[in-house]
Amino acid sequence: MKEAVLSVKRMIIILMILLLSLLVSLSVFTEANGEWILTQYDAGGSVGMFYSLVNQANGMLILIDGGWTSNAEQVKSVIEANGGAVNYWILTHYHEDHCGAFNALWPEYKEKIENVYVTPLTWNDFEPYCREWDTPETFKLFLEQTKDAKNIVPLHRGDKLDIDSLDINIYNAWDDIILLHSTDVANNCSLVFRIQYGNTSVLFLGDMVAEGLADFLLETYGADILHADYIQAGHHGWGRYPMSFYQTLNPKEIFLDATDDLLTSEEYKNAHGILVRWCQENGIPMHSFKTAPYNVTLK
Ligand SMILES: [Fe+2]
Repeated sequence: MKEAVLSVKRMIIILMILLLSLLVSLSVFTEANGEWILTQYDAGGSVGMFYSLVNQANGMLILIDGGWTSNAEQVKSVIEANGGAVNYWILTHYHEDHCGAFNALWPEYKEKIENVYVTPLTWNDFEPYCREWDTPETFKLFLEQTKDAKNIVPLHRGDKLDIDSLDINIYNAWDDIILLHSTDVANNCSLVFRIQYGNTSVLFLGDMVAEGLADFLLETYGADILHADYIQAGHHGWGRYPMSFYQTLNPKEIFLDATDDLLTSEEYKNAHGILVRWCQENGIPMHSFKTAPYNVTLK
């Protein structure tokens, strides 16, 4: 009897040691795999914007825009491949090539989306400046569908977020400063934000397009703060900022959310083409829809 008790005790000790070593190895595993994978997707049209950020340790999913309404199936497949829920969804602005898929998926996924970050534009702010190509029906549908939602969070210039070890700083959002530089409210109200994790940084410019706003950001925050390893080119690379803006921010690589047909077309040689040539001349890799899905590890 005494021997049986001893062997049970031994078994318990061995099991505890095994459990402890499992816990230690799990914590080491978690630490070693806490990186984030950022993915740029082809968002469906000749231009559009859709990115995901997935934490390799805990599966947390952040989506940035989502592309056109017709891109909803692609966004859905990304959500489903990552557990079927979205922890954070950042919408830069309300044009259909950015917000269409979100609108299309909201009825099905609204209970599975924890937080939605938006630029604080209101319909009254937008309406006087609405142009025919501003897809106002997309903004209207967003407002209508989310009017009772409690998880729509407007962000403001200067806000800081700490999402599971990602540092996110907001440098542009709808406010009075926009109108000092441009009446293209729909694009220039875009959330502009910089994400830092470990030694990797990414600057998202959304569809901010006004040269004056680019200058304002540089004057207000400075090149050291805004510098990023990867830059999502503003307004799909439409060259309204002087190339000195990109030169000063000194990115290693550039994301251009458009097809190569558009980026290299004769028609846009003085628009998107300016940035394409600048990247080529400076040996800066460009990632367009042609190379999507393209992954970057933030570590
Ligand atoms: Fe766009």
